[in-house]
Amino acid sequence: MKNISDISLKGKRVLIRVDFNVPLDKHFKITDDSRIKAALPTIKKVITEGGKAIIMSHLGRPKNGFEEKFSLKHILKHLSNLLKAEVGFSDDCIGENTLTDISKMENGDILVLENLRFYSQEKAGDNEFAKKLSKLGDIYVNDAFGTAHRAHASTSIIANYFPNNKYFGLLLNNEINSLETALKNPKRPFTAIIGGAKITGKIDVITSLLDKVDNLIIGGGMAYTFSKAIGGNIGNSLLENDKVELAKSLITDAKAKGVQLLLPSDSVNANEFNNNAIIQNSEITNIPDGFIGLDIGSDSISRFSKVILDSKTIIWNGPMGVFEMDNFSNGTKKIGEAVCRATKNGAFSLVGGGDSVAAVKQFNFAEKVSYISTGGGAMLEYLEGKKLPGVTAIQD
Ligand code: 3PG
Ligand code: MG
Repeated sequence: MKNISDISLKGKRVLIRVDFNVPLDKHFKITDDSRIKAALPTIKKVITEGGKAIIMSHLGRPKNGFEEKFSLKHILKHLSNLLKAEVGFSDDCIGENTLTDISKMENGDILVLENLRFYSQEKAGDNEFAKKLSKLGDIYVNDAFGTAHRAHASTSIIANYFPNNKYFGLLLNNEINSLETALKNPKRPFTAIIGGAKITGKIDVITSLLDKVDNLIIGGGMAYTFSKAIGGNIGNSLLENDKVELAKSLITDAKAKGVQLLLPSDSVNANEFNNNAIIQNSEITNIPDGFIGLDIGSDSISRFSKVILDSKTIIWNGPMGVFEMDNFSNGTKKIGEAVCRATKNGAFSLVGGGDSVAAVKQFNFAEKVSYISTGGGAMLEYLEGKKLPGVTAIQD
């Protein structure tokens, strides 16, 4: 993989696509800066080697045109603090004014451009827009793993204008290497833990993982549709009625492929979606009417943990329960602990997806897993075996 370690950056205008699509609260304070922190090594490398770092990103999903709440100016101060360096801002991302701002940069300077998605041409993958962006740099670097599954102007189309000067940033390079560690010749047993609310959105990854893993652990809201598929009573739990047949066929496929599919055996239930609700435990196939399953129970935790502790490669996407509420966080926490222990014993563990990463941080597991991905959708698509436009654009 061609990455920026291979080239001289001195004096060059290095146009870096990052994914600074970070969550902001209503006072525009960043509530999770992982993606920004993960992009620092590339930015630091460019400036310490005397390049000019021109940073472009999207933030949120603006309609078309400027929207205050999606302005990238909200992240400047934080970025500057993290880098311990001054950070300039251009209030556009193409055109004369931005070119002028760039022409004033000195070696080692940093300039952030305004949100790319204020132009609808960004998401449309518009060629003319990509061409305008390409005028801003001598070298193009893609470090936006979180957006690598989008064929947008700044992530993919732009690379056509840098046939000999396009590179992976250090973050994107690490992300791909970590995924490849898991997918190519994984040390076995190889276990995938898939959780989260819904099967929808995870079908392709589950299907594709059935060809790769030895064990597939299912938890979270989606487990209740699986319980229904095996004839369980799930009370008022989340049910994707149109996915029951699919869940049945995934169970059959797993068997045919020799994959151990582990569903939760028990469930922590509540009479309403509320931390202070009346709580009771039951088998996952025997949830009383009027109750909602919100976490995996202790029997599931010990069955899952045993498999995890025996594993040598682990991929984790999606929480086991509603971990944001104290009373339903135990399953996710205990499964996280098992992943950390397995890692300590030498397993390679890769965690991705917004919710599971938030959980890993909430329980302070971040330092105890092998790699935390900055990608949600991008990681899933990579695991599905899809080509990511942001990656192929640099490779081709
Ligand atoms: C993300 O957070 O999923 C990425 O930044 C991509 O954003 P998108 O889902 O709005 O394309
Ligand atoms: Mg997304």
